[in-house]
Amino acid sequence: MNFQNRTVVLGVGGGIAAYKACELARLVVKGRGTIRVAMTRAATRFVQPLTFQAISGGLVLVDLFDPASEATYGHLSLARSADLLVVAPATADLVARLRAGMADDAVTTTALAVTCPVLLAPAMNTRMWRNPVVQENLAALRARGFHVVGPGAGELADGDVGEGRLAEPEEIAVAASRLLGNLDLAGRRVLVTAGPTREPIDPVRFISNPSSGKMGYAVAAVAARRGAEVTLVSGPTVLPDPAGVKVVRVETAEQMAKAVEAESAAMDLFVGAAAVSDYRPQRASASKIKKGTGEETLVLSRTPDILAGLGARWAGAKDGPVLVGFAAETEEVIARAREKLKAKRCDLVVANKVGGPGAGFGGDTNRVALVSTTELAEIEGPKEKVAEAILDWILPVLEGRRPKQG
Ligand code: PMT
Repeated sequence: MNFQNRTVVLGVGGGIAAYKACELARLVVKGRGTIRVAMTRAATRFVQPLTFQAISGGLVLVDLFDPASEATYGHLSLARSADLLVVAPATADLVARLRAGMADDAVTTTALAVTCPVLLAPAMNTRMWRNPVVQENLAALRARGFHVVGPGAGELADGDVGEGRLAEPEEIAVAASRLLGNLDLAGRRVLVTAGPTREPIDPVRFISNPSSGKMGYAVAAVAARRGAEVTLVSGPTVLPDPAGVKVVRVETAEQMAKAVEAESAAMDLFVGAAAVSDYRPQRASASKIKKGTGEETLVLSRTPDILAGLGARWAGAKDGPVLVGFAAETEEVIARAREKLKAKRCDLVVANKVGGPGAGFGGDTNRVALVSTTELAEIEGPKEKVAEAILDWILPVLEGRRPKQG
């Protein structure tokens, strides 16, 4: 995650999950952002301001009547500097005071004074979380434009099990970076393939597969949101065009290959998420094939391997696009992904076990492993989260190459 040139103000509430806010602050610093911290008095009972001071490298605002910080109107300067205010943990009490518009501590006062987006990460006991007054308060804040991440479910600090756990720091950081409109792919051109191809047998029949296009569209949408200029070459899908993406619609593997060929030289990154048919009927009949009495034989020819073609053309070339392929497999997924990495000469292969629930074709979630010559990382979750992880992996590789744009 990239927080470069961004200031995140972290408002820490008084709950046991306050210790997790330290990790959140560290993630912003790791992403080269500036983190400034305000704490409620109650929060300081759980974590010392000194801890946040050490992580952020700045003074922590706690006391609105501290002559030293208020000499420069500390609470207002904090609010002015913020590109985003994250309140974590947002306790039931803090949520109520934010809703009421109170300004009785460093966090609520800062929240009243900011003009940037506000992200709340609620955390409380599950009984409190379910209380209608808490839900009403949050609904009112949402209606006022506040964003909310979590809470997660699981075992709580007091032993109860249910909703109310603070979202993991990583998840809060991802939500924060989305709200900030992380533009770490600005100036980059990205080409993505998505969806199935259709190889006609005759005018009313074709060979295809169950790809919905969701995985590739997620990569295209996320890359565009992160500032890239994106071209999406899509097989037939029912999905709407992702915002800000140039979409080229094709039917067959041959057409997809031609569209990719036309664009690839100008690209910094290619991501092949399409489920391209490996075979097509050797001859497509111009008219509907009539039903006979006996068996029919369909002779198949190989289609062009788009990814392997790009690998043969660009692998090792300094000015070629970074190449990312997928490997959809039902067994020996990692081993076969490694074979594809080598055979198709890619920088990264996204190994996708297909055929089980929650991953692969059609659904909104996926379970993949990012396989390179040196690394193996497993990612699971919504397809957009998988797309973010793929692009996060690519970023340092791209940084070593000059952008094609301009
Ligand atoms: O579209 P969804 O419903 O969201 O489903 C997502 C997905 C399962 C389709 C996606 O995550 C995925 O795994 N896509 C790759 C599917 C596939 O064709 O895998 P493969 O192992 O057969 O191909 C390996 C790679 O070569 C892929 O990057 C593929 O795009 C590419 N290829 C394959 C054949 C071919 N003729 N040309 C190619 O470029």
